[in-house]
Amino acid sequence: MEHMNPDETLPYESSSAVMWTGKGDRLTVVGDHLGRLPSLKILDAQPGEVVLDAGCGSGFIARRLVRDHGAVVLGCDRSPTMLSRAREHETLEPLGIIYDEADITKELPYPSESFDRIACIAVLIHDSPEECQSFFREAYQVLKYGGRLIVSIMHPDLFQADSPARTGQASWVQYEAMETAPMTQSQRFAERYVDSEGNIFDSTVWYHPASLFPKQLKEEGFVTTRVFHQLMTQDVLIACNASGSIGYRAFYQVLATK
Ligand SMILES: C[S@@+](CC[C@H](N)C(=O)[O-])C[C@H]1O[C@@H](n2cnc3c(N)ncnc32)[C@H](O)[C@@H]1O
Repeated sequence: MEHMNPDETLPYESSSAVMWTGKGDRLTVVGDHLGRLPSLKILDAQPGEVVLDAGCGSGFIARRLVRDHGAVVLGCDRSPTMLSRAREHETLEPLGIIYDEADITKELPYPSESFDRIACIAVLIHDSPEECQSFFREAYQVLKYGGRLIVSIMHPDLFQADSPARTGQASWVQYEAMETAPMTQSQRFAERYVDSEGNIFDSTVWYHPASLFPKQLKEEGFVTTRVFHQLMTQDVLIACNASGSIGYRAFYQVLATK
């Protein structure tokens, strides 16, 4: 039976013990602390489970899944540059991760019901609502029955006109509207993201309203089991050499089951 628990906040755990993994996977942006690490915890992969890291980038999540959870991991990404970085890591520290070039919004190169869990972290901010829906369709196909999918992106609240990221109260991220569409619709924003060393990353990203993923997941057959909100804390600001207000919703995760 379908049910959705009330939204909940996952308490942030001090990052001081995990600033370095010793393998070059340094945590440098707020998303590492409030997006990636909580997502791994929520996904809770078990030893021996087969996990797909959809949109794996250079393989941070994939490596964590092997090292910290004992999972068997496949990663895929559409960027040959990111994949070559991931494969380079694999050469330096062989963890048995297989990396494939694939667009996760197209037919995935895996048989049906291949995976116990799927992680899609910091990816769908790059994809249109139609592409997100296609990904959920593909994910449903390759996930086993009873399997779990976690999706994590910047919190939709961050894009709202009164959020710290719009009013200059967050030194680590700024959003600027590019369209006049109502906030009930997905739309593109200019993003300025700053890491702990002050490096600036400018890009264009998709804002998706909070209702979009649960709706699309349901349409593709998933049950959205929980929605998590990650609040900005002083610890995270300090870890990232960032400043500004705290207590606002900065990242969120949607956990769904097939
Ligand atoms: C910010 S990185 C996150 C990488 C990884 N998930 C992590 O957390 O370390 C976003 C990645 O998503 C990939 N990506 C975005 N849309 C994609 C798509 N439709 N298919 C495959 N990869 C995609 C990009 O190429 C990029 O490598």
